[in-house]
Amino acid sequence: MSNNWKFNKRRDFLLGLAGITGMVALGKGQSIYLNYSIQSLDNQARTFYVYGEKSLKERAATKGLIYGAAASHDNLISDSEFAKVFIQQSGMMVPELEFKWSSGNKRLRPDQNSFDFKAADWMIEFSQKNDLLFRGHTLVWHHALPNWFEEQVNRQNAELLLTKHIQTVVGRYVGKVHSWDVVNEAIAPSHNIFNGLRKTPWLDLLGTDYIDLAFRLAAQADPSALLVYNDFGLDYDNSKDEAKRQAVLSLLEGLKSKGTPIHALGIQAHLSGDSHSFNPQKFRDFLSNVASLDLKILITEMDVKDQNLPFDTAMRDRTIAAAYEDYLSVALDEKAVIAVLTWGLSDKYTWLNEFQPRKDKTPVRPLPLDAQMQYKLAWNAIARAFDHAPKR
Ligand code: G3I
Repeated sequence: MSNNWKFNKRRDFLLGLAGITGMVALGKGQSIYLNYSIQSLDNQARTFYVYGEKSLKERAATKGLIYGAAASHDNLISDSEFAKVFIQQSGMMVPELEFKWSSGNKRLRPDQNSFDFKAADWMIEFSQKNDLLFRGHTLVWHHALPNWFEEQVNRQNAELLLTKHIQTVVGRYVGKVHSWDVVNEAIAPSHNIFNGLRKTPWLDLLGTDYIDLAFRLAAQADPSALLVYNDFGLDYDNSKDEAKRQAVLSLLEGLKSKGTPIHALGIQAHLSGDSHSFNPQKFRDFLSNVASLDLKILITEMDVKDQNLPFDTAMRDRTIAAAYEDYLSVALDEKAVIAVLTWGLSDKYTWLNEFQPRKDKTPVRPLPLDAQMQYKLAWNAIARAFDHAPKR
């Protein structure tokens, strides 16, 4: 009997012991049990071995899929090493800020009557120059609205403002955008509003038809683009995600039944490395239900946060990689899934460093490349998922 077996048996025994001890210790408010439960996510037998040198975009393209990532104008302009590896790995790009009404130091809409396309044009030119497909993100969202919005937009002028925004922005890039996130995050069942809709300024100003209106305007402005409804919190086997999956399905069914020109669902896939509640069959069923509406599916903003994982970076990287591979092996089994994008490519520029930092203040490690642009096991996991995916 191989030593490995003895090692595994001993390790399992110790893990089990840690578990029991941990549960006993929990009474003293210690977190050994939590570490045990997280440790159980870490299968050190998984090597995440990858064959060959192909990039993620090449591995995706081999199966008729697309791999891409989010990036910002400022990071692409200021970091040539990042820009180089971004072009090497990505077949598609999505702007993190530049196509929103207003985010950070980017103001697409300086005021109610004007547009500043400088950054947006640069991003489109970067994609064209480097043969990258481009995702427009996003036309209608309740976040990233300019300061003037609240005091100047009302029920009398909102429809005209939205119409002008979509016609101008989408019309400017006709033929250069693969897909638009036309409406982002419009579902929040906890808001207890009609059909699980989120209470947003757009709902207050235009009523429930704002979603259909936005898609119709986008379709008129660019009939060649894939029009996407994009949302988060659709991933796990818990009551909150289940309610959201049902409400999103209901929204999609309603839009399809009234002939709204919607072509795909964007699943953001912001995952948690410490979650035990990914249920492959439940997720597979959800994807199949979406596909049965004759909709494509894009995984649009994938990352796996390590905020609640232990300090040990080797264990963190294995656990994060396992979450990527387990999720994508199910997602890519559904042939309606056409693309996977991560919300960033390198840990150097992830939103999670600012928005969901680790308590121990160490840099987070949610993305395929580390801050020095080196492959991590997460890169291997995504590569393996593409290598094992059925061809489209
Ligand atoms: O660049 C300025 C900086 O000069 C200033 O000092 C600092 C002050 O806080 O703000 C910086 O801008 C921030 C910008 O990110 C760049 O870091 C903005 O405040 C901040 O609002 C902006 O947040 C972005 C957020 O969307 C809102 O647009 C995140 O980077 C971006 O990752 C996040 O992405 C969203 C998707 O669009 C939709 N799905 C969820 C996803 C994560 O929240």
